Amino acid sequence: MTAPNIETIVSLSKRRGFVFPASDIYGGLGSSWDYGSLGVELANNVKQSWWSWLVHERDDIEGLDSSIIQNRLVWKYSGHEETFSDPLVDCRDCQTRLRADKLDYAESRTISMEDALAKKIVKCPNCGSTDLTDPRPFNLMFRTTVGAASSDEDESALAYLRPETAQGIFINFKNVLDSSRRKLPFGIAQIGKAFRNEVTPGNFIFRTREFEQMEMEYFCRPEDAPRIHQEFIDEFQKWFYSLGISADNLKLYEQTAKELAHYAERTVDILYRFFPERDVEEKQFDELMGIANRRDFDLKAHSKKPEGADGKRFNPDTTEDLSYFDEATKQRFYPYVIEPAVGVNRTLLAILMDAYTEQTNDKGETRVILKLKPELAPIKVAVLPLAKNKPEIVSLAKDLKKQLLPAMRTVYDDTGGIGKLYARQDEIGTPFCVTVDHESLDDNAVTVRDRDTWEQERVQVTELKDYLQKRLT
Ligand code: GAP
Repeated sequence: MTAPNIETIVSLSKRRGFVFPASDIYGGLGSSWDYGSLGVELANNVKQSWWSWLVHERDDIEGLDSSIIQNRLVWKYSGHEETFSDPLVDCRDCQTRLRADKLDYAESRTISMEDALAKKIVKCPNCGSTDLTDPRPFNLMFRTTVGAASSDEDESALAYLRPETAQGIFINFKNVLDSSRRKLPFGIAQIGKAFRNEVTPGNFIFRTREFEQMEMEYFCRPEDAPRIHQEFIDEFQKWFYSLGISADNLKLYEQTAKELAHYAERTVDILYRFFPERDVEEKQFDELMGIANRRDFDLKAHSKKPEGADGKRFNPDTTEDLSYFDEATKQRFYPYVIEPAVGVNRTLLAILMDAYTEQTNDKGETRVILKLKPELAPIKVAVLPLAKNKPEIVSLAKDLKKQLLPAMRTVYDDTGGIGKLYARQDEIGTPFCVTVDHESLDDNAVTVRDRDTWEQERVQVTELKDYLQKRLT
């Protein structure tokens, strides 16, 4: 079972402290969210899984953490200043701002959006009016000024919040290459915040203006790029399975030539079933991540060497040439780049939706169980005293928490009856509860309860850590 819709996860998240609406006490801020004590742990575990897999376990990828604010020229030469925009349409009746490329119209397979708008067959999803403006480009980059600028309009102080982490990697290509003495193929991985002034954010943490990306740029010989691209498409599907996401809720989408970004030769998206409540199967899925073959676009764009047919340099501002010299063939060329780009927030949402389960207990009550993979669970073990007014029981329970803590995130909780405490831990995905009872004081054993089966087992205190460690892995 998975969550029936995103709303179920919104409500669970607020109730249990995964995600809260941002600036809530001031009326909120459109599509901004804060991560609570459990949400931040879950997000950290997702990032840790990605980082360990790519940077630590593989031998061909280096890590990086570049600045959010870079020289404006980075975004000029990457093409973002000119092309990183969405087609914006206004409804003249209700003044709603809409993304033209996301609007529905029946003839969508036969005529273009521009023609459909001109023929007035596209309806505003808010009020149903067909009186919509022509589409115009709206640049998604957030602008800011750096230093003591004379005014917000001071062009010399203009900078942007990065709309993707990728460019920080490209402009550091030579730094990493020289300092790590890498040879092709190799990758550079980075996790960090990105910002886009989205026209129509929404669907909880699915599309927000501030979000987090896990991007890896894999540099290779042009002739190897198609094969490596396919390998990462396969590998990333497996990574999602390893996070507990079921294959039934994932599918691949090959972007059409019209959809491809200006830099891409081929892009395959991995889609997740974020909207299971929708009637049409195709509309249930939306993008979880993209895996692009960016060719040599970015390294060339930031290099001083490339010239047009007229002999003029494309980039007169950079001081570097980001080409690669192959010692074996004595050739210099611009590597191709394969880019798997994942959103932390969308991954977290997919994990929560897929883990959501409802189960009925023997009293006929429906309980929520979050069947998270143990390595992702914010809390691995909860130690619960059966009687909180008995000092020996409380003391043993608190001791156990301390013993387990360095090896696994453990909490102590005595804020309710045992049934309530079990239900709370099930709902936040804690794989094991350890109960200390009166008998524990005599037999030095505790009851370990499994989140998914609700089965209970008596385990000696001296063996508890080993027992839990084995079951958690
Ligand atoms: N460097 C390539 C790049 O940024 P993208 O497809 O625009 O590609 C990669 O973004 C991933 O980042 C998406 O697949 C999605 O998971 C996440 N993402 C993009 N925009 C987002 C937004 N507004 N809110 C949340 N996540 C977003």
